[in-house]
Amino acid sequence: MTSYVSSTRTRVAIVGGGPAGLALSRLLSVAGVDSVVIDNRTHHEIETTHRAGILERDSVRLLLDAGVSDRVLRDGHEHQGIDLRFGGVSHRIDFQKLVGASCWLYPQTDVFLDLHAARIRDGGDLRYGISDAAVTDHREAPRVTYSDANGAHHEITAELVVGADGSRSICRDLVDNPQRYFREYPFAWFGILAEAPPSAPELIYTRSPHGFALISQRTPTVQRMYFQCAPTENPADWSDDRIWAELQRRLAGSDGFALKEGPIIQKSVLPFRSFVQSPMRDGNLLLAGDAAHTVPPTGAKGLNLALADVRVLADVIERALLKNDDDALDSYTTRALERVWKAQHFSYWMTTMLHRIPDTTDFDELRQLGELTTLVSSEAGSTYLAEGYTGWPHH
Ligand code: PHB
Repeated sequence: MTSYVSSTRTRVAIVGGGPAGLALSRLLSVAGVDSVVIDNRTHHEIETTHRAGILERDSVRLLLDAGVSDRVLRDGHEHQGIDLRFGGVSHRIDFQKLVGASCWLYPQTDVFLDLHAARIRDGGDLRYGISDAAVTDHREAPRVTYSDANGAHHEITAELVVGADGSRSICRDLVDNPQRYFREYPFAWFGILAEAPPSAPELIYTRSPHGFALISQRTPTVQRMYFQCAPTENPADWSDDRIWAELQRRLAGSDGFALKEGPIIQKSVLPFRSFVQSPMRDGNLLLAGDAAHTVPPTGAKGLNLALADVRVLADVIERALLKNDDDALDSYTTRALERVWKAQHFSYWMTTMLHRIPDTTDFDELRQLGELTTLVSSEAGSTYLAEGYTGWPHH
């Protein structure tokens, strides 16, 4: 029999200490519900993994409600619109004018750091760098076991287990007989960080005959950019010069726009797919974020969707554990999935509208330009984009 060097009793065991797991842990703590968070990654690994950088209006509101908004409000940048660029011309989508909302440029790694610091401050039980995590008996008496960095075994017993353990979730496989929906795409994103000043005040989403490109930002001296590439592309084959030449030709146009260049300090190829698992609950196990769904990165919905799950999850858990509302957990999948499918559509739509499909026909190229022209010349079309991008309100 395994002997455990520690055995902890808590109300909610949270597998996954990224932004979703930590945000849940924080909201529960504010409501007076204890939790323990475990993650097989180290704090350093999470902090240095680059993810998207756009927060929807209600994601910022969630950080405000969780009491961790000081930095996002001080250091984040409010973006009141984006540029859609095609045919070599930029078209601004003015979010404030169309829907009276903005989004915030604030990297996911900073959201992680803020939530982590807040949980440490309020005495949260966070355990990083663990291995061999396993969840047992999630329908009756949930138990989570793992090994620490020294190989010693630990046990956590809880009333509920939340799987916020990302796209390689171990928790999702515990759901009995799930439906799984996939979509693969015949391309990926080549992502870079470059030491350069911003090339534009807001993000630029570009469709060009050479493929998609996205010009995002990080700080006044570091910029984040992406361009569509083959899923098999090897970053080592791309010199700085080759990367800049590719980005410049995708952004070029009759207005003479050119990116500001600088040394490239990070490059990687990002996977690209759509995935949903349903239901998001089985017994006393509930899934949140990438454990239950993945979106392609166009439109930056991944973190926002995870935080929206967490908002619903905190509500159903508080009702179940503090008010003995037995039906609360039953409502989780339906409540969460409605937004998940809206975001799936939005991300798919932004992706297919802006990317070049390999071996496409002239018909499809011109149809795509027709769609973009309709969008930017129609207030209804632009409003649909503005609404989805800044985010549908949390309920
Ligand atoms: C980013 O800044 O990393 C980013 C922004 C917008 C996206 C995706 C990624 O749609």
